[in-house]
Amino acid sequence: MANPSVYLETFGCQMNELDSELVTGSLRALGYRFTQDALAADVVLYNTCSVRELAEQKVWSRLGEMAQRKARQPGLVVGVLGCMAEREGAALMKRMPVVDVMVGPGELDKLPGLLDNAVRTRAALADEIEPADAQEQRPDTSGLTSARQAALAGNTSRRSATLAAAADTLELLDLSRAVSPETLGPSRSAYVRITRGCNKFCTYCVVPFTRGAEVHRPPQHIVDECRKLADAGVIEVTLLGQTVNHYRFEHGASVTLGGVVQPQKGRTYKRGESQTDAYAGLNVTTFADLLRMIHEEVPAIRRLRFVTSYPRDFGDDVLTVIRESPRICRYLHVPAQSGSDRVLGLMNRGYTVGEYLEFLDRARAILHQPEIGRPLTLAGDIIVGFPGETEADFEATKRLLERARYKNCFIFKYSPRPGTVAIDRFVDDIPDEVKRRRNNELLALQNVVSDSVGREFVGQTLEVFVQGISRRAAKAKVRAERVSIGAVGLTIGGKSVGSQDDEGCGDQGACSSAAHAQLATGDEPAATPDEPVQMTARTDGDLIVLFDTTRPADDLMGTVQRIRIDASRTLALHGTLV
Ligand code: SAH
Ligand code: SF4
Ligand code: F3S
Repeated sequence: MANPSVYLETFGCQMNELDSELVTGSLRALGYRFTQDALAADVVLYNTCSVRELAEQKVWSRLGEMAQRKARQPGLVVGVLGCMAEREGAALMKRMPVVDVMVGPGELDKLPGLLDNAVRTRAALADEIEPADAQEQRPDTSGLTSARQAALAGNTSRRSATLAAAADTLELLDLSRAVSPETLGPSRSAYVRITRGCNKFCTYCVVPFTRGAEVHRPPQHIVDECRKLADAGVIEVTLLGQTVNHYRFEHGASVTLGGVVQPQKGRTYKRGESQTDAYAGLNVTTFADLLRMIHEEVPAIRRLRFVTSYPRDFGDDVLTVIRESPRICRYLHVPAQSGSDRVLGLMNRGYTVGEYLEFLDRARAILHQPEIGRPLTLAGDIIVGFPGETEADFEATKRLLERARYKNCFIFKYSPRPGTVAIDRFVDDIPDEVKRRRNNELLALQNVVSDSVGREFVGQTLEVFVQGISRRAAKAKVRAERVSIGAVGLTIGGKSVGSQDDEGCGDQGACSSAAHAQLATGDEPAATPDEPVQMTARTDGDLIVLFDTTRPADDLMGTVQRIRIDASRTLALHGTLV
């Protein structure tokens, strides 16, 4: 088949969004065309998330639809990529014969080869099979198992020998990133991975199993990638890692394989240990060093941000670099998960509420400078209904929310995940209606906090990154209503909105960074020359700002402007260009 068309749908966190971008680039280079129309595609790929059950259910239902379609279109190739492929393994292929290709997040470099094989095999098969009427005879695909292939790390992704080799080829995928207007889109904002995997093993979480061990990319690769992006017009870079502040690269300890310096395995820190102390005397690039390097060596990046931070292991060295660097955003996404020490212990988070709040106080003391237009904003994640969570534990979480004063907080109902410690050790004993009530109570409380945080910005003049034309009032209203009854984790106007019932993003920055919620999709009626257009922008603290302007939208899009904040209304700040 010449130039097959691909439909790729992405679920989950920013890491997945970046993986999808890399996969798109590598397949495009091989001649695949991409389409937004799933029905027109020869190849349908789902880049999946396993963090909560609902995220997986969506993919199961998509696969069910594809099974019906394949009966009519035997040449169709279906692939499952990402965390769910890794978590489910061969069981997924067994349960869903419609799936031709499965590739875990640590094996994405193998996708082109597997896909090529699957496309050829299915095309040959389609020539032999009369397309079946949906209701009538279905092609017997049982003899096709040899064409159905999977690339999964399995339980090897945490073994250091294989880890090094796998990381090496994966590094090539990151290095081969195609930077073009097509892959970057109009936003001039991009993700850059600095660390893969996670070593924390929070008891509820699948990520250490699906993404493997913590591995850090060489700093020069990261800086070069930032430079390449900046040369292509990117002015905002978000560095990605599950525990992004754990970044450290030990020079001289690496081996070169295939011409590529291998990324390194992570290390666990002692309580209270800062990276600078931990690596004193060693030739190590710490997270603080890396931030400084990117800031100094690629000044064209006007906004440098990073997610997600782990509340422990966050040294003053990093906070000081942020304070000293005008282009590093004063924004920390630093999930607490619970306000109860007992629950934090069961979650294996490794800190107490007191230690968490101490960190927030330290971060505020160093970074919160509204008087020079550089306030610090914080975002958090909370899980409600963890096994055994009492009303007293829940009340403690409410107090944490009041004390932390996040600009937004992502609130999730606990979802037991196969393979995790929590599902084996603890009974999921909080009834769903209790989880839902707690979820809603926290959302309501967070909305009050977010409103109050938003009001603090009124009267301030802040730099914003202009992202696009905002939806018209009517559309925004419809969307806000829809969001408030059913979405999770969308950051709209810096407010936490939505509930657990939609798995829009597994990790908060996925939405907040791209500000998906507010961007026009190109179907807006064109404004007449002097009619003001409402545009949407983001502060460096990730707050959404709406403003009216008669200046041409294209001139403003993707630029940094100064805005005086006039009002804080539900879901957004409103301001005027100065
Ligand atoms: N590495 C990041 C978060 C990764 S997952 C961190 O540690 O902060 C994103 C969020 O999903 C987590 O912060 C947590 O709040 C939530 N989450 C993870 N596993 C979950 C589960 N089993 N049930 C409900 N929420 C979960
Ligand atoms: Fe790692 Fe974050 Fe999951 Fe904890 S919640 S195991 S830190 S990814
Ligand atoms: Fe994987 Fe990201 Fe989901 S790491 S499990 S896609 S939140």
